[in-house]
Amino acid sequence: MITRTIQLTYEHRVIFTRSIFDPANPVLRDLIATARGTGRHPVKTLLVVDQGLATADPLLEERIARYAEAHREVIGFTGAPLLLPGGEACKNDWSLVERIWQRIHADGICRHSFVIAAGGGALLDLTGFAATTAHRGIRHIRLPTTTLSQGDGGVGVKNGVNYFGKKNWVGTFAIPHAVVNDLDFLRLLPPPQRRAGIIEAIKVSLIRDRSLFETMEAMSGSLAQLEEQALETVIRRSAELHMNHIALGGDPFELGSARPLDFGHWSAHKLEQISGFRLGHGEAVAIGMAVDLIYAHRLGLLSAEDEQRALSLIRAVGFDLHAPELTIRQNGELVIVRGLEEFREHLGGELTITLVTGIGRAVEVHEMDTTVLSQVLDELTVRFGSAQAGPVSASRVA
Ligand SMILES: NC(=O)c1ccc[n+]([C@@H]2O[C@H](COP(=O)([O-])OP(=O)(O)OC[C@H]3O[C@@H](n4cnc5c(N)ncnc54)[C@H](O)[C@@H]3O)[C@@H](O)[C@H]2O)c1
Ligand SMILES: [Zn+2]
Repeated sequence: MITRTIQLTYEHRVIFTRSIFDPANPVLRDLIATARGTGRHPVKTLLVVDQGLATADPLLEERIARYAEAHREVIGFTGAPLLLPGGEACKNDWSLVERIWQRIHADGICRHSFVIAAGGGALLDLTGFAATTAHRGIRHIRLPTTTLSQGDGGVGVKNGVNYFGKKNWVGTFAIPHAVVNDLDFLRLLPPPQRRAGIIEAIKVSLIRDRSLFETMEAMSGSLAQLEEQALETVIRRSAELHMNHIALGGDPFELGSARPLDFGHWSAHKLEQISGFRLGHGEAVAIGMAVDLIYAHRLGLLSAEDEQRALSLIRAVGFDLHAPELTIRQNGELVIVRGLEEFREHLGGELTITLVTGIGRAVEVHEMDTTVLSQVLDELTVRFGSAQAGPVSASRVA
């Protein structure tokens, strides 16, 4: 046997800025100038833009053109941006992967070039996948433009599209050259989508960071109003905690079965699906977290006080804790419970569910008692079935 150790060191960086395509903003230019080393030529760069973003910001393309002109000595944009539809549908359309490859091929983009993606998490996953598979991996820069992607998915190291009807079935792990969070883009989002990212921040605070949870409690009024400064504070900390998990958690490429950042997600994914995507990801995660918080309390893992506090914060920032789809049955069986097996399949290996044991603390369990789960769903219906989002009352069912 011949063995050699290969050690690679990566810098994972997320930069916060505003007006990324203002010619006076040095962020992208500096990122690319540093990467070009001593070379004197502009670095070939393909920019892929989410059509939903371009529609919400009709002046975006014009700004990009002015920006490209101002920095043409460093960034060699290969023509106009490639505009592609965003949203989950783009990850179901393999022809879009080929369209990105086509441009990479036609523009002569190579491993010394860059692909930049600006858009929601779905467009970033699609473009990252196309970039990291072409020529065995072209450097890519992510510009997430939703609250969800700026504080959560967009700052990660995963790319992928859906295949065989399964989410993220084909994809890559690749550390982006950089992630740039331009907070100005968030102003363009409709309120439910601006709110969606808050739930991922509550999620990560519940499993990892009591002080973020308390900050969010103190700011819950401003968060409910979607005030910019409050959003910015939680996105920053949420992004930081995600990066800590990737860089310091010991499993950046997810070889193990544990996925703590998927707390509350096993039922959320199923809820999104059985609601026919009436519920957005954030709304489904809010309910999914409520399910697992009440479950943990019923098992004696979480105190009534902490359960109440967590549910209160979720509602105070504007999320409902119930959906009628929760209790749909087929052949007498709760459909939502199938989410457990699908989650196990998705992670591979042993079923691993993260449960909160106190604000900022979590454990992993490897089975869920479906009788208790069924009681939890009934409890959610009784406590929150007809309630609007707002503070949680103390009424409980036995
Ligand atoms: N790679 C990862 O680690 C990871 C982690 C979590 C989630 N994800 C993925 O992220 C995706 C969800 O991302 P998302 O929540 O950002 O939503 P999204 O990408 O589905 O975008 C939602 C909609 O908003 C539009 N849009 C984007 N930016 C906008 C803006 N600033 N103003 C107005 N409209 C805008 C898009 O065109 C789209 O129609 C899912 O596919 C999920 O699987 C990936
Ligand atoms: Zn999520």
